[in-house]
Formats: sequence, C-alpha cells, structure tokens
Amino acid sequence: MNNKIDFGKIKEFDGKLKLTGDKSISHRAVFFASMAEGESIIENISLSADVESTMNCFKALGVDILKKDDKVFIKGAGFDGFKEPNKPLDAGNSGTTSRLLIGLLAARNIKAEIIGDESLSKRPMNRIISPLNNLGASITSNNGYLPVKINGNGVVKKFNYELPVASAQLKTSLILYGLHSDEESTIIEKIPSRNHTEIMLNLHTIKEGNLTKINFSKKNYPIAQKYFVPGDISSAAFFIIMTILNKNSSLLIENVSLNPTRTGFLNVLKKMGADIEIVEQKSAASEIYGNLLVKSSKLTNIEIPIEIIPNIIDEIPILAIAGLFGEGKMIVKGAEELRIKECDRIKAIVENIKKLNVEIDEMQDGFVLLGKPEGNFAKVLYESYDDHRIAMAFAVLSMVNENGGSVSNFDCVRISNPIFLKQVQEIIS
Ligand code: S3P
Repeated sequence: MNNKIDFGKIKEFDGKLKLTGDKSISHRAVFFASMAEGESIIENISLSADVESTMNCFKALGVDILKKDDKVFIKGAGFDGFKEPNKPLDAGNSGTTSRLLIGLLAARNIKAEIIGDESLSKRPMNRIISPLNNLGASITSNNGYLPVKINGNGVVKKFNYELPVASAQLKTSLILYGLHSDEESTIIEKIPSRNHTEIMLNLHTIKEGNLTKINFSKKNYPIAQKYFVPGDISSAAFFIIMTILNKNSSLLIENVSLNPTRTGFLNVLKKMGADIEIVEQKSAASEIYGNLLVKSSKLTNIEIPIEIIPNIIDEIPILAIAGLFGEGKMIVKGAEELRIKECDRIKAIVENIKKLNVEIDEMQDGFVLLGKPEGNFAKVLYESYDDHRIAMAFAVLSMVNENGGSVSNFDCVRISNPIFLKQVQEIIS
C-alpha cells in the first residue's frame, strides 16, 4: 500500500506530550512475563506493531495474553511450559522479536520456526545463530537469514562470551539462553549497548575499565510481577527535534525513559546548542524516567563521537534532520550497523537529503552533511523505504520546512508509533 502523506509547515506551539511505552522495554516485559510462572501485568505498554508481533509469537507458544488498551495481562508458561507451535512464529518487521526468540527457544526442548516480513528476512541472524550453535544449540537458517529453524534439546551449559558487536539484541538473546543453566555464565561487553535486560532481571554487572561483565544463571530467571513501562525516548526524539527546529515553540514531555544507555542523542543535541532540560526525574524498578522541557534553539553541527554510536543508533535518522538546519558540518562515522536496520538507513538519509541540493557525502559507515541553517527547502517527496524511523524523520523535516514536504508509504510508522500523527495534532493544537 502506498499511502503518501503531504505535510504543511506547522505553526508555533507550546505543547504537551504524553507518550506510550518504550518499545525495547515492552518487548522485554512481554518476554519475561511469558517466561515467568503466574500472572504479570504490564502497564503503559508500547502500542507498536513490533510489540504486537512479540505478543502474537508468545500466544502461538501457548501463553495466555490479554490486552486492554495500554495494559496487558499475561499468564506466563513457566520454566518449561511453552507448547510446540503448529505453524511458524511470525516476527513481522521486528528484529528484537526474532533475535530474542532464537536465544530463548534454543534453550528449550522444543522445535520451532521463525519467519518475518521482507525487510526482516534481509537482516542478518548469524550474529545470534553462530555463537548459540557454538555453545551446543541446534539452529539452522537460510544462509544466515530467516526462516530460522530451532531444534532445541533443553540442555544449556554455562559460557563466557565477549560480544564482537555492540548489540543489545545479541546480548539479550544470549542472556535468555544462559538463564536456563544452573551454572553462572558471563557476557563481556566492550562498548555499552542498551541495558534494559540487565536492569529488569536485576543481573550482577561489574565494570572493569572499559569492559562490563554481566553475570547470570537460572537464579535470575524472571518471576511474575507488575511492570510499568516508561515513555519511549526514541519516539520522543522526533518531537524533541520538531520543537527545536520550529521557531518560538516549546514542548513538555511527560514520563519519558531517561535510561543513560538511550539518552546519548540528548547530549549530542545539547552540544549542538539545544535547549533541553530535565524538569523532573523518577524511577520504577531502577529504570529512570522523567519530564523533559524542550525549546526552539539554534544549532551548530558537530562530529559525533564514535563511542556513543550504539547509544544513538535509532536516533541517527532524526539527528540528520537536526544537522540539516545546523551551522557547519555534521559528521557521523562508525555507524555501519545503520545499513542493516529496517532498511539501509545511511542510503535512505543520503538519498532523501540529496533531493534538497544540500551537500551530503555518503560513506560506508556514515555521512558528512553540511547544514543550511536558513532552511527554506523545496517541497519534495521523500521515500520512507518502508522504514518507520525514516518516515517520521522526513515528516518532521516537512513540518518545520517553510514549503512543507511529502513522505511515501507513511503507514510503516505503525511499526513503532501508530499514533504519531495524532500526537502531532495534540502538540500543535
Ligand atoms: C534493540 C536494540 C538495537 C536497536 C533496536 C532495538 C533492542 O538493535 O537498534 O531498535 O531492543 O534490544 P541492535 O541490538 O541490533 O543494535
């Protein structure tokens, strides 16, 4: 379906935004609640299609899941309670669903097949499959891609593993596997990635210089509980930059996740001169969240430090839009992971920005962009590449640009935020 949306320039606003739950935390809450014995409740769950995919996979594994608006009631299957699915588990567009499921099911005495949509079927699964098979799991794939078949025997031995890439999906997949052994396993992380799994399972982590050692065993297996999911900082990113780039505007964002492994883009924006303030901070089960006040600001571009790339990986498309209006050059390097997201995000950013006669150079691992602070770009049609974060980034550009803009295949925003357009209306009205 090609639903193109035309956006006009928005007026000045003093808005307020209430977010739905964070997608990464929601996925994990559904996994842990489904694995636990007994009833868990998840409050303020993400409304994303990706988290729906996770819930549907667990329903197919026999877990009792009831969703009422943003609340979910889950009767978990316990340590060996999953039923063998009679059809492939469909992870849809969701990398997190597929990769976490591979680690979890490889540890079980179960046969299962995981499939996904066209985009997910092009994303590498070997980074998960190889280490698990080396540890004794039995997983086959279509040359490293979906469909993946798991032939679990329920035997898991302890392991020590140093992550070769900064990936929270790989890290979590291996943790889910290791939770099925009585003996303690260790994962060593050189570059930090999001740590929701460690926080939610209360894992013992030790910092040794630049390394983080994460220890876990059956003792950390999840138990039924009540989860509160703070607002999605990655969804908030689009509205934060929309506010910064729109003249005489301000936005108060309530109850947004402020986990430091996710807020790197706020530090980048502050270095660029953005007016962003944390006005209240709270915490729920060690996940920090709070209220943010954002105001229109003039930006100066910077070279983004390579070591924070994993922290800001999902925000790079919308940071590129901020860079378009910044003074000087924005340099992004060390971000080759962007090429294997829901689409090739480096190509998507560069090709769309090129339509505006702006200087942008594509590199294998990033791009260099020369900003045009005066803006006033021509009205063009941006290609979403069926990628939710590309669609929302160029929607924001269209809404702050004097001449507006259009975005193709906008429907894909449902993958992370189906109420994006409604939230825009609430903010500007
Ligand atoms: C996620 C981890 C990141 C991120 C993705 C969600 C997670 O992926 O890009 O949107 O919930 O663990 P990688 O683990 O591939 O870096």
